[in-house]
Amino acid sequence: MAKIFLAGGAGYIGTHTAVELINAGYEVIIADNFYNSSPEAVQRVEKITGKSVKLYETDIRDNKKLEEIFSENNIDAVIHFAGLKAVGESVQKPVMYYRNNIDTTLSLLETMEKFNVKNIIFSSSATVYGEENPVPYTETMKRGVCTNPYGWTKAMMEQIFEDAAAADKKLSVILLRYFNPIGAHESGLIGEDPQGIPNNLMPYVSQVAVGKRECLTIFGNDYPTHDGTCTRDYIHVVDLAKGHVKAIDYILSNDRCVEIFNLGTGVPYSVTEIVDTFEKVNNIKVNHVYGARRAGDLAECYANADKALRVLGWKTGKTLEDMCRDSWNWQKNNPDGYNK
Ligand code: NAD
Ligand code: WQD
Repeated sequence: MAKIFLAGGAGYIGTHTAVELINAGYEVIIADNFYNSSPEAVQRVEKITGKSVKLYETDIRDNKKLEEIFSENNIDAVIHFAGLKAVGESVQKPVMYYRNNIDTTLSLLETMEKFNVKNIIFSSSATVYGEENPVPYTETMKRGVCTNPYGWTKAMMEQIFEDAAAADKKLSVILLRYFNPIGAHESGLIGEDPQGIPNNLMPYVSQVAVGKRECLTIFGNDYPTHDGTCTRDYIHVVDLAKGHVKAIDYILSNDRCVEIFNLGTGVPYSVTEIVDTFEKVNNIKVNHVYGARRAGDLAECYANADKALRVLGWKTGKTLEDMCRDSWNWQKNNPDGYNK
């Protein structure tokens, strides 16, 4: 049974990926400093799968601790989720973002080299396409000019991985560019648990629906889109997690690969469509008003998802209705997230 090390695996995408990897027969080892997550989330993974998960509390930048983990476990591949991800906060605290996101990457690469681990998958983002590239984004496009430090950390880390793979012809790297993950596991046991006021649309919508926030502000309705609100490529987090399983299958069955894959549906939806669908499938009202545009938002962002289908045999299976229903199921069963 191949062993997969999930750095930052206690978070939103990491826990969903852990479930799908375990279901696919992989053994999962998680390390996290719980900066934006909790050990409870990993216990829920165990509850869903009925399997125990080895969990280490550590900062991924701690090379000594990483070496302990790598020497205790015969790791076949790494998935690097460990990062800070709040766009607005990254503008306020750029140094903290560069320090955390880049150093976690360097520590992982250094430790992998020491222990001769040659497979790594990285959580990148559609944000690296920047402002210049036209939608739909394809993997062959050049990285663009990012609009915030968070985005730049992703672009820089992609570059670091490409340079590391160019220097070490045995190192396999897969860069996964996520679009907009939403939804939750259908059990309602794991989901997104943002601290404080949510930055992202779906957690905000869910918190308004559950009564934690009064009203959603839709940022701008004068964009050049079909209804004036921004469009995004929302992807169910379980589909996204299954994309990681396909990427792990691929990286472990190829002698060597250096690849980039978009993980999106290829179908954009507007903010208004999200709110309307959420209200309809869950039969609940989401108070909302239209407000000013948010700085840095692009009118449209969606993937060309052909490559992941062609090469990995992966495509999404869940609908927007599934995404809205599962987000709400998680929120209403866990109104205060993992703090119960
Ligand atoms: P998350 O915050 O839920 O998960 C990240 C995890 O990494 C958290 O558990 C956090 O505690 C941990 N972490 C952060 N720094 C760490 C460190 N130095 N040492 C140990 N653990 C550390 O976020 P997520 O939504 O699950 O995102 C996972 C990855 O995917 C991130 O790198 C994020 O940037 C990337 N990504 C997310 C999205 C999205 O919309 N959620 C989109 C594109 C890319
Ligand atoms: C979606 C749409 C908002 C909140 C961000 C990162 C990206 C990736 C995913 C992370 C936009 C609108 C939102 C609200 C609103 N990264 N909105 N009212 O900005 O597409 O992408 O998350 O790791 O890098 O930039 O996602 O969920 O913030 O916004 O109207 O209260 O919802 O304007 O059109 P975004 P989002």
